[in-house]
This record gives sequence, structure tokens and C-alpha cells, in this order.
Amino acid sequence: MRKKVTIIGSGNVGGTTAQRLTETGLADIVLYDIVDGLPQGKALDLAEAGPVVGFDVQITGTTEYGPTADSDIVVFTSGAPRKPGMSRDDLLEVNKKIVTENVEQVARYSPNCVLLMVNNPLDAMAQLALKVSGFPAERVVGQAGILDTARFRTFLAWELGVSVKDVHAYVLGGHGDDMVPLVSYTTVGGVPVGQLIPEERLEEIVQRARDGGAEIVGLLKTGSAFQAPSAAVVEMLEAILLDRKRILPCSAYVQGQYGIHDLYVGVPVKLGAGGVEEIVEIPLSADERAALHETAASVRGLVEALGL
Ligand code: LAC
Repeated sequence: MRKKVTIIGSGNVGGTTAQRLTETGLADIVLYDIVDGLPQGKALDLAEAGPVVGFDVQITGTTEYGPTADSDIVVFTSGAPRKPGMSRDDLLEVNKKIVTENVEQVARYSPNCVLLMVNNPLDAMAQLALKVSGFPAERVVGQAGILDTARFRTFLAWELGVSVKDVHAYVLGGHGDDMVPLVSYTTVGGVPVGQLIPEERLEEIVQRARDGGAEIVGLLKTGSAFQAPSAAVVEMLEAILLDRKRILPCSAYVQGQYGIHDLYVGVPVKLGAGGVEEIVEIPLSADERAALHETAASVRGLVEALGL
């Protein structure tokens, strides 16, 4: 039997995630939303692309939780996006309510699934999902690091006029304004980026990556990014569905690694069929470690504001 992936929220991130996932052919998909007609319409439209694109997975749209039952993975894209001038943290209260209700129902209908969180503020929402679901931490993971790293890689590739494929990097920490692009682990064709771009210019590129989400919100005005976020989600889905054991930066429940305790924060993880199979500890410089602790402190503030 094919694997089953439910996507909670059928807006831009949910819809594009569904589209990308159909094209992999890896799973049947259930699109859920509270707005009647939206998930059904998007699912029908997408199904009708199958004969042309060549996929034959099933895609169902629903406003009920019943059809989501026994999913292998559930992706949470529901909730409000940012408006220009807002930080991700401004979404805490409104998305707390939505995420709590979604996770309660999903955990009831799919008690063995992996929860893949995309809602903002990301790390705090992942921690909320852990608490509400009662799932083991390896089955609750958040998407952020792949997106933040993709932005960093894009800007570096543009700067150097090379393919993004040859730019390797890591962005760790919380998915917030103080995320931590690791320059020391960033290479272009195997060459450390510090040897290719002067420090001052590199700092500007780091800052553009940090502000990458806000830059898109500022341009779109009525919503936030969805193409790069959905691509990042599908990379995680493939790693889990195919048990690929990819090493990817994800928001995971850190319990002592990097000197951080009982908190969701972006770190490299081994992602496979079991979800987060391992948190990978890479050596950090004193500055990088301090920056990671600073971002963890911001996430902790949000988690405390949630009363967790
Ligand atoms: C972003 C939002 C979705 O970074 O968090 O684009």
C-alpha cells in the first residue's frame, strides 16, 4: 500500500507542497482545511493534472479529520502568515489556538504518524505540537533550516556566479531574526566561502539570508513565501518516506546536545522513517556556539509565553 501524507492547511504552502509531492509519486495525499471548498477544489484541480504530468497518486480534499486517519506523515501549514512589518513571533497567540486544535485531532486519527510542523513561530509551534500530541520527540519535527539554508545558498551562488548545486551551507538556530548561518561550514565547490568572499560582503549576505522571509513578505504584501518553503518540506518528506537517513538542518527537540536542554531549535538531524533518528552534533566555534545559545534563548522566551 502507498504511504499517506496529510497536509493541514490548503493555502499557498499547503497547495504547493501537495503539488510537489504528487510529482514525486511517493504518497497518496489528503488536503485539509476549515474553509469549505478550498481543499476540495485544490485537490480536484491537482488530480486533473495527473494525466498530463503522469502521476497516479490519490489526492483528496476535505474539511473533516476522518479522511486523514492513519496518515504516515502530517504536515501542518495552517495558521496566519505574516503581514509586512510583522515578525514571526507576532503570530504566537493566533497560531497557538489553531495548532493546538489541529494537533489534538490529528494525534487522535493518526496516532503513529510523524508531525512535520511548518507554522510560525516555527520552533515554538513544534514544541507546542510535542506537548499537545504526547508523541515521542523523534516523531515531531519542524521545517526551517532547509529553507533558511536554501536562501543563504541562493545569495552566495548569485554573488559568485556559480550553480547553487555547488554551494553547501548550514543555517542553524531558531527560525527567527537571530538564526545562525554557519560560515565556517559553508563551501563552494569544496572551497571555504571565507576564501572567496571578503568578510564584510559575506556579513551582508548572511544578513540578507536572515531577513529572507521578511524580504518576500515585503514584496508580496498579502502573504509570505511558499515556493521555497514547500520545496524544503518535500525534501523532508522524501527523507522520511524513503527512509533516506539524510542529514538535514531541521527544528528538533534538543536534549543536552550543544548544551541546550528540552527545546526545539534548528540543528542537523538524521531524518529517516522514524523521523528524527539522531541529532547530529558538529563542532562549533565559540562565537557560533554563543550565537546558537542566543537564538535558543529567544525560542525559550516564546515557549514560556505559551506556558509550556
Ligand atoms: C519564511 C516564513 C514562511 O521564512 O517563515 O518565509
